Amino acid sequence: MRGLFIVFDGIDGCGKSTQLDRSAELLKRDGYSVITTREPGGTVISEKIRSIILSPDNREMTCECELLLYAAARAQHVREKIAPALKQGVMVLCDRFDCATFAYQGFGRNIPFSLLEAINTIAAGGVQPDLTFIFDITVDAAFKRLNAMEKLPDRLESGSREFFSRVAEGYRTLAHRNPEKIVLLNGELPVEKLGDKVFKKIIEAIKLKLQQMI
Ligand code: TMP
Repeated sequence: MRGLFIVFDGIDGCGKSTQLDRSAELLKRDGYSVITTREPGGTVISEKIRSIILSPDNREMTCECELLLYAAARAQHVREKIAPALKQGVMVLCDRFDCATFAYQGFGRNIPFSLLEAINTIAAGGVQPDLTFIFDITVDAAFKRLNAMEKLPDRLESGSREFFSRVAEGYRTLAHRNPEKIVLLNGELPVEKLGDKVFKKIIEAIKLKLQQMI
């Protein structure tokens, strides 16, 4: 059976990476074969692209350049890592994927959706998430969490409140448009409680996939 492709997404500071690690641990404990990865990144080449995108030195980067770099990183990541793992029946848990492009470059930077769809078709090469979790938090909560972190903000985390509000609203819109595949969860719930909801959904998706095979 082809592995399940599950994505964890939401605005910066939403808690997606904590939830991804927790789900991976629980799935491995239950005997599932799982890899975790992230976007932009996940392979040597894509991680190099990531450091160019996020470097605070690159303030003058245009939104078109940024979009194409995310797409380049995805094209390599999908072909080198994600698709081969799925083919071998391994479950892939990925920190961000295509929803991030639609939310940040579409709703955030106002790049037309038709362009994003065309570029993402090339980048993703037909690989689509089976399930995407979006952790919804207010921009105030996100800024509080980011300010509490000790590391310096990257180029994207230094964005304005208006930008993050558009992105957060964009994520909500994406989830409402495709409720079958995109699960919107309250990212301000306690970590354990939220984690239980995520894990329950993943187990449902595994069962559904098995049923579809019969
Ligand atoms: P991260 O800090 O969660 O790893 O994500 C890096 C940043 O990249 C984050 O601010 C969201 C942004 N991003 C996009 O704008 N478009 C994309 O397609 C992806 C994957 C990430």
